[in-house]
Amino acid sequence: MNILITGANGQLGNEMRILSAQHPKHTYLFSDVFVPENSPVTVHPLDITDEAAVCGFVGEHCVDLIVNCAAYTNVDKAEQDEPVALKINADAVANLARSGARLIHISTDYVFSGDEHLPCREQDPVAPRTAYGRTKYAGEQALLAIQPDAIIFRTAWLYSEYGNNFMKTMIRLGQTKPEIGVVYDQIGTPTYALDLAQAIFAAIEADEWKAGIYHYTNEGVCSWYDFTLAIHEVYNMLHKDQINCRVKPILSEEYQYLTPRPHYSVLNKAKVKQTFGIQIPHWRDSLIACMQNIQ
Ligand SMILES: NC(=O)c1ccc[n+]([C@@H]2O[C@H](COP(=O)([O-])OP(=O)(O)OC[C@H]3O[C@@H](n4cnc5c(N)ncnc54)[C@H](OP(=O)(O)O)[C@@H]3O)[C@@H](O)[C@H]2O)c1
Repeated sequence: MNILITGANGQLGNEMRILSAQHPKHTYLFSDVFVPENSPVTVHPLDITDEAAVCGFVGEHCVDLIVNCAAYTNVDKAEQDEPVALKINADAVANLARSGARLIHISTDYVFSGDEHLPCREQDPVAPRTAYGRTKYAGEQALLAIQPDAIIFRTAWLYSEYGNNFMKTMIRLGQTKPEIGVVYDQIGTPTYALDLAQAIFAAIEADEWKAGIYHYTNEGVCSWYDFTLAIHEVYNMLHKDQINCRVKPILSEEYQYLTPRPHYSVLNKAKVKQTFGIQIPHWRDSLIACMQNIQ
Protein backbone atom coordinates (compact mmCIF):
# COMPACT_ATOMS: atom_id res chain seq x y z
CA MET A 1 0.00 0.00 0.00
CA ASN A 2 1.01 3.62 -0.52
CA ILE A 3 0.40 5.32 2.80
CA LEU A 4 0.36 9.10 3.31
CA ILE A 5 1.05 10.38 6.83
CA THR A 6 -0.14 13.98 7.14
CA GLY A 7 1.03 16.20 10.01
CA ALA A 8 4.39 14.41 9.81
CA ASN A 9 6.18 17.15 11.80
CA GLY A 10 3.86 16.72 14.78
CA GLN A 11 4.08 14.40 17.79
CA LEU A 12 2.09 11.51 16.32
CA GLY A 13 3.29 12.09 12.75
CA ASN A 14 6.92 11.69 13.88
CA GLU A 15 6.12 8.51 15.82
CA MET A 16 4.35 7.10 12.75
CA ARG A 17 7.52 7.85 10.76
CA ILE A 18 9.70 6.05 13.32
CA LEU A 19 7.44 2.97 13.32
CA SER A 20 7.05 2.89 9.54
CA ALA A 21 10.60 1.50 9.36
CA GLN A 22 9.28 -1.64 11.10
CA HIS A 23 6.61 -2.10 8.41
CA PRO A 24 8.67 -2.00 5.22
CA LYS A 25 6.12 -3.72 2.99
CA HIS A 26 4.35 -0.40 2.51
CA THR A 27 5.56 2.74 0.76
CA TYR A 28 5.25 5.86 2.90
CA LEU A 29 4.83 9.50 2.02
CA PHE A 30 5.07 12.17 4.69
CA SER A 31 3.54 15.62 4.47
CA ASP A 32 2.96 18.72 6.56
CA VAL A 33 1.91 22.29 6.02
CA PHE A 34 5.49 23.56 6.45
CA VAL A 35 8.70 21.69 5.77
CA PRO A 36 11.59 22.45 8.15
CA GLU A 37 14.97 22.96 6.45
CA ASN A 38 16.71 20.32 8.57
CA SER A 39 13.98 17.69 8.27
CA PRO A 40 15.47 14.18 8.76
CA VAL A 41 13.24 12.74 6.01
CA THR A 42 11.50 13.95 2.91
CA VAL A 43 8.39 15.75 4.07
CA HIS A 44 6.22 17.02 1.24
CA PRO A 45 4.61 20.42 1.68
CA LEU A 46 0.85 19.82 1.62
CA ASP A 47 -1.78 22.07 3.15
CA ILE A 48 -4.72 19.75 3.76
CA THR A 49 -7.15 22.69 3.61
CA ASP A 50 -6.32 22.98 -0.10
CA GLU A 51 -8.66 20.45 -1.71
CA ALA A 52 -7.12 20.65 -5.19
CA ALA A 53 -3.64 20.12 -3.76
CA VAL A 54 -4.84 17.13 -1.69
CA CYS A 55 -6.55 15.49 -4.68
CA GLY A 56 -3.54 16.19 -6.91
CA PHE A 57 -1.13 14.71 -4.38
CA VAL A 58 -3.20 11.59 -3.71
CA GLY A 59 -3.68 11.00 -7.46
CA GLU A 60 -0.05 11.66 -8.39
CA HIS A 61 1.33 9.31 -5.71
CA CYS A 62 -1.44 6.69 -5.98
CA VAL A 63 -2.11 6.96 -2.24
CA ASP A 64 -4.23 4.06 -0.94
CA LEU A 65 -4.45 5.07 2.72
CA ILE A 66 -4.11 8.38 4.57
CA VAL A 67 -3.30 8.46 8.27
CA ASN A 68 -4.35 11.98 9.20
CA CYS A 69 -2.11 13.20 12.03
CA ALA A 70 -2.53 16.85 10.97
CA ALA A 71 -4.73 19.07 13.11
CA TYR A 72 -5.22 22.44 14.74
CA THR A 73 -4.32 21.39 18.29
CA ASN A 74 -4.02 24.64 20.26
CA VAL A 75 -7.05 24.37 22.57
CA ASP A 76 -6.86 27.93 23.94
CA LYS A 77 -6.14 29.62 20.60
CA ALA A 78 -9.05 27.76 18.99
CA GLU A 79 -11.49 29.73 21.18
CA GLN A 80 -10.60 32.97 19.33
CA ASP A 81 -9.82 31.23 16.07
CA GLU A 82 -12.68 28.73 15.66
CA PRO A 83 -13.22 29.28 11.90
CA VAL A 84 -9.55 28.48 11.19
CA ALA A 85 -9.65 25.47 13.55
CA LEU A 86 -12.83 24.28 11.80
CA LYS A 87 -11.16 24.58 8.40
CA ILE A 88 -8.25 22.36 9.48
CA ASN A 89 -10.07 19.98 11.84
CA ALA A 90 -13.22 19.45 9.76
CA ASP A 91 -13.23 20.93 6.22
CA ALA A 92 -9.75 19.57 5.52
CA VAL A 93 -10.76 16.13 6.82
CA ALA A 94 -13.56 16.17 4.23
CA ASN A 95 -10.95 17.05 1.58
CA LEU A 96 -8.90 14.01 2.57
CA ALA A 97 -12.02 11.81 2.65
CA ARG A 98 -13.00 12.89 -0.88
CA SER A 99 -9.52 12.34 -2.30
CA GLY A 100 -10.08 8.68 -3.19
CA ALA A 101 -7.86 7.22 -0.45
CA ARG A 102 -9.12 5.45 2.66
CA LEU A 103 -8.73 7.29 5.94
CA ILE A 104 -7.52 6.62 9.44
CA HIS A 105 -8.25 9.79 11.36
CA ILE A 106 -7.37 10.96 14.88
CA SER A 107 -9.85 12.63 17.21
CA THR A 108 -10.01 13.55 20.87
CA ASP A 109 -11.57 13.07 24.31
CA TYR A 110 -12.66 16.74 24.01
CA VAL A 111 -15.71 15.56 22.05
CA PHE A 112 -17.08 14.59 25.50
CA SER A 113 -18.20 17.00 28.20
CA GLY A 114 -15.85 15.58 30.83
CA ASP A 115 -18.64 15.70 33.42
CA GLU A 116 -19.04 11.91 33.70
CA HIS A 117 -17.33 9.68 36.24
CA LEU A 118 -17.06 6.49 34.20
CA PRO A 119 -14.63 5.84 31.33
CA CYS A 120 -16.28 7.05 28.08
CA ARG A 121 -17.23 4.43 25.50
CA GLU A 122 -17.27 5.07 21.77
CA GLN A 123 -21.08 5.14 21.63
CA ASP A 124 -21.53 7.51 24.57
CA PRO A 125 -23.17 10.86 23.77
CA VAL A 126 -20.78 13.64 22.82
CA ALA A 127 -21.05 17.17 24.20
CA PRO A 128 -17.97 19.21 23.32
CA ARG A 129 -17.44 22.20 25.61
CA THR A 130 -14.66 23.92 23.69
CA ALA A 131 -14.10 25.27 20.18
CA TYR A 132 -11.38 22.66 19.71
CA GLY A 133 -13.74 19.86 20.75
CA ARG A 134 -16.51 21.18 18.48
CA THR A 135 -14.20 21.35 15.46
CA LYS A 136 -12.80 17.87 16.11
CA TYR A 137 -16.31 16.45 16.42
CA ALA A 138 -17.27 18.23 13.19
CA GLY A 139 -14.26 16.48 11.61
CA GLU A 140 -15.51 13.07 12.73
CA GLN A 141 -18.95 13.83 11.30
CA ALA A 142 -17.59 15.18 8.02
CA LEU A 143 -15.43 12.09 7.57
CA LEU A 144 -18.17 9.58 8.38
CA ALA A 145 -20.61 11.34 6.02
CA ILE A 146 -18.21 10.71 3.13
CA GLN A 147 -16.53 7.48 4.28
CA PRO A 148 -18.87 5.63 6.68
CA ASP A 149 -16.27 2.86 6.82
CA ALA A 150 -13.41 5.09 8.00
CA ILE A 151 -11.36 4.35 11.13
CA ILE A 152 -11.21 7.02 13.85
CA PHE A 153 -8.97 6.83 16.91
CA ARG A 154 -9.96 9.13 19.77
CA THR A 155 -7.08 9.78 22.10
CA ALA A 156 -6.13 12.10 24.99
CA TRP A 157 -3.21 13.71 26.87
CA LEU A 158 -0.73 12.95 24.08
CA TYR A 159 3.00 13.40 24.62
CA SER A 160 6.11 12.33 22.78
CA GLU A 161 9.82 13.03 22.47
CA TYR A 162 8.79 15.20 19.46
CA GLY A 163 7.04 18.57 19.55
CA ASN A 164 5.83 20.54 22.54
CA ASN A 165 3.80 18.85 25.23
CA PHE A 166 2.99 18.75 28.94
CA MET A 167 5.85 16.36 29.78
CA LYS A 168 8.45 18.70 28.29
CA THR A 169 6.86 21.76 29.91
CA MET A 170 6.96 20.12 33.35
CA ILE A 171 10.62 19.16 32.89
CA ARG A 172 11.46 22.75 31.91
CA LEU A 173 9.46 24.28 34.76
CA GLY A 174 10.92 21.74 37.19
CA GLN A 175 14.43 22.78 36.17
CA THR A 176 13.77 26.51 36.47
CA LYS A 177 11.24 27.04 39.29
CA PRO A 178 11.46 26.21 43.01
CA GLU A 179 7.71 25.52 43.16
CA ILE A 180 4.87 24.93 40.70
CA GLY A 181 1.12 24.43 41.16
CA VAL A 182 -0.49 21.69 39.08
CA VAL A 183 -4.19 20.79 39.01
CA TYR A 184 -5.32 17.63 40.77
CA ASP A 185 -9.05 17.80 39.91
CA GLN A 186 -8.70 16.87 36.23
CA ILE A 187 -8.42 13.14 35.72
CA GLY A 188 -7.34 11.37 32.54
CA THR A 189 -4.66 9.15 31.07
CA PRO A 190 -1.34 10.31 29.59
CA THR A 191 -0.72 8.68 26.22
CA TYR A 192 2.67 8.12 24.62
CA ALA A 193 2.20 8.93 20.93
CA LEU A 194 4.46 5.99 20.01
CA ASP A 195 1.96 3.60 21.65
CA LEU A 196 -0.90 5.18 19.72
CA ALA A 197 1.15 4.79 16.53
CA GLN A 198 1.54 1.06 17.39
CA ALA A 199 -2.26 0.77 17.65
CA ILE A 200 -2.68 2.54 14.31
CA PHE A 201 -0.30 0.04 12.73
CA ALA A 202 -2.31 -2.79 14.31
CA ALA A 203 -5.33 -1.41 12.43
CA ILE A 204 -3.35 -1.09 9.19
CA GLU A 205 -1.97 -4.64 9.47
CA ALA A 206 -5.26 -6.27 10.58
CA ASP A 207 -6.36 -9.18 8.36
CA GLU A 208 -9.33 -7.11 7.26
CA TRP A 209 -10.35 -3.44 7.40
CA LYS A 210 -12.16 -2.92 10.71
CA ALA A 211 -14.10 0.31 10.34
CA GLY A 212 -15.28 2.24 13.36
CA ILE A 213 -14.46 4.65 16.15
CA TYR A 214 -11.91 3.42 18.71
CA HIS A 215 -10.76 4.90 22.00
CA TYR A 216 -7.05 4.66 22.66
CA THR A 217 -4.98 5.98 25.54
CA ASN A 218 -2.42 4.29 27.75
CA GLU A 219 -3.75 2.23 30.68
CA GLY A 220 -4.37 3.68 34.12
CA VAL A 221 -5.61 7.05 35.30
CA CYS A 222 -4.09 10.02 37.10
CA SER A 223 -4.41 13.76 37.59
CA TRP A 224 -2.08 16.29 35.94
CA TYR A 225 -0.54 16.66 39.42
CA ASP A 226 0.23 12.93 39.68
CA PHE A 227 1.58 12.96 36.13
CA THR A 228 3.92 15.84 37.01
CA LEU A 229 5.25 14.03 40.09
CA ALA A 230 5.92 10.97 37.93
CA ILE A 231 7.65 13.07 35.23
CA HIS A 232 10.01 14.57 37.81
CA GLU A 233 10.59 11.20 39.49
CA VAL A 234 11.44 9.44 36.22
CA TYR A 235 13.58 12.37 35.10
CA ASN A 236 15.56 12.19 38.36
CA MET A 237 15.95 8.43 37.95
CA LEU A 238 17.51 8.88 34.48
CA HIS A 239 19.55 12.09 34.87
CA LYS A 240 22.37 13.33 37.06
CA ASP A 241 21.16 16.96 36.99
CA GLN A 242 18.25 16.50 39.36
CA ILE A 243 14.94 18.36 39.33
CA ASN A 244 14.38 19.77 42.79
CA CYS A 245 11.03 21.52 42.53
CA ARG A 246 8.10 21.36 44.91
CA VAL A 247 4.91 20.39 43.09
CA LYS A 248 1.82 21.75 44.78
CA PRO A 249 -1.65 20.29 44.07
CA ILE A 250 -4.11 23.03 43.10
CA LEU A 251 -7.73 23.18 41.93
CA SER A 252 -8.67 24.10 38.36
CA GLU A 253 -10.32 27.26 39.68
CA GLU A 254 -6.93 28.38 41.07
CA TYR A 255 -5.35 28.11 37.61
CA GLN A 256 -6.23 30.82 35.10
CA TYR A 257 -7.44 28.54 32.29
CA LEU A 258 -8.44 30.40 29.14
CA THR A 259 -10.64 27.44 28.15
CA PRO A 260 -12.68 25.05 30.32
CA ARG A 261 -10.98 21.65 30.68
CA PRO A 262 -12.78 18.32 31.16
CA HIS A 263 -12.72 17.17 34.79
CA TYR A 264 -12.89 13.49 33.87
CA SER A 265 -11.69 12.36 30.46
CA VAL A 266 -10.83 8.71 30.88
CA LEU A 267 -11.58 6.64 27.76
CA ASN A 268 -12.83 3.05 27.80
CA LYS A 269 -10.46 1.01 25.61
CA ALA A 270 -12.25 -2.36 25.61
CA LYS A 271 -13.22 -2.10 21.92
CA VAL A 272 -9.76 -1.32 20.56
CA LYS A 273 -8.15 -4.09 22.64
CA GLN A 274 -10.71 -6.68 21.60
CA THR A 275 -10.89 -5.70 17.92
CA PHE A 276 -7.17 -5.53 17.26
CA GLY A 277 -5.96 -7.98 19.92
CA ILE A 278 -3.54 -5.45 21.39
CA GLN A 279 -2.19 -4.94 24.88
CA ILE A 280 -1.88 -1.38 26.07
CA PRO A 281 1.02 -0.33 28.31
CA HIS A 282 0.39 1.48 31.60
CA TRP A 283 1.06 5.22 31.33
CA ARG A 284 3.91 5.04 33.87
CA ASP A 285 5.80 2.38 31.90
CA SER A 286 5.32 4.39 28.73
CA LEU A 287 6.54 7.57 30.42
CA ILE A 288 9.76 5.77 31.36
CA ALA A 289 10.08 4.43 27.77
CA CYS A 290 9.57 7.91 26.28
CA MET A 291 12.11 9.53 28.59
CA GLN A 292 14.61 6.78 27.82
CA ASN A 293 14.03 7.38 24.10
CA ILE A 294 14.73 11.10 24.60
CA GLN A 295 18.06 10.20 26.21
N1 LIG B 1 -1.88 16.64 21.67
C1 LIG B 1 -2.84 16.09 22.41
O1 LIG B 1 -2.80 16.09 23.66
C2 LIG B 1 -4.01 15.43 21.73
C3 LIG B 1 -5.04 14.94 22.53
C4 LIG B 1 -6.13 14.31 21.90
C5 LIG B 1 -6.16 14.19 20.52
N2 LIG B 1 -5.14 14.70 19.78
C6 LIG B 1 -5.22 14.56 18.32
O2 LIG B 1 -4.15 13.72 17.91
C7 LIG B 1 -3.71 14.11 16.60
C8 LIG B 1 -2.21 14.31 16.61
O3 LIG B 1 -1.91 15.34 17.55
P1 LIG B 1 -0.42 15.86 17.77
O4 LIG B 1 -0.29 16.25 19.19
O5 LIG B 1 0.56 14.94 17.12
O6 LIG B 1 -0.50 17.22 16.91
P2 LIG B 1 0.68 18.25 16.59
O7 LIG B 1 1.94 17.83 17.25
O8 LIG B 1 0.12 19.61 16.84
O9 LIG B 1 0.86 18.03 15.01
C9 LIG B 1 -0.10 18.42 14.09
C10 LIG B 1 0.61 18.75 12.81
O10 LIG B 1 -0.36 19.14 11.83
C11 LIG B 1 0.16 20.25 11.13
N3 LIG B 1 -0.87 21.02 10.46
C12 LIG B 1 -1.61 22.04 10.96
N4 LIG B 1 -2.38 22.56 10.00
C13 LIG B 1 -2.14 21.87 8.88
C14 LIG B 1 -2.60 21.96 7.54
N5 LIG B 1 -3.49 22.90 7.16
N6 LIG B 1 -2.12 21.10 6.62
C15 LIG B 1 -1.22 20.17 6.97
N7 LIG B 1 -0.73 20.04 8.21
C16 LIG B 1 -1.18 20.89 9.15
C17 LIG B 1 0.85 21.04 12.22
O11 LIG B 1 1.71 22.01 11.66
P3 LIG B 1 1.96 23.38 12.51
O12 LIG B 1 2.52 22.96 13.83
O13 LIG B 1 2.92 24.13 11.65
O14 LIG B 1 0.61 24.03 12.66
C18 LIG B 1 1.60 19.93 12.96
O15 LIG B 1 2.84 19.63 12.36
C19 LIG B 1 -4.53 15.35 16.24
O16 LIG B 1 -5.64 14.96 15.46
C20 LIG B 1 -5.02 15.86 17.57
O17 LIG B 1 -6.23 16.60 17.45
C21 LIG B 1 -4.06 15.30 20.34
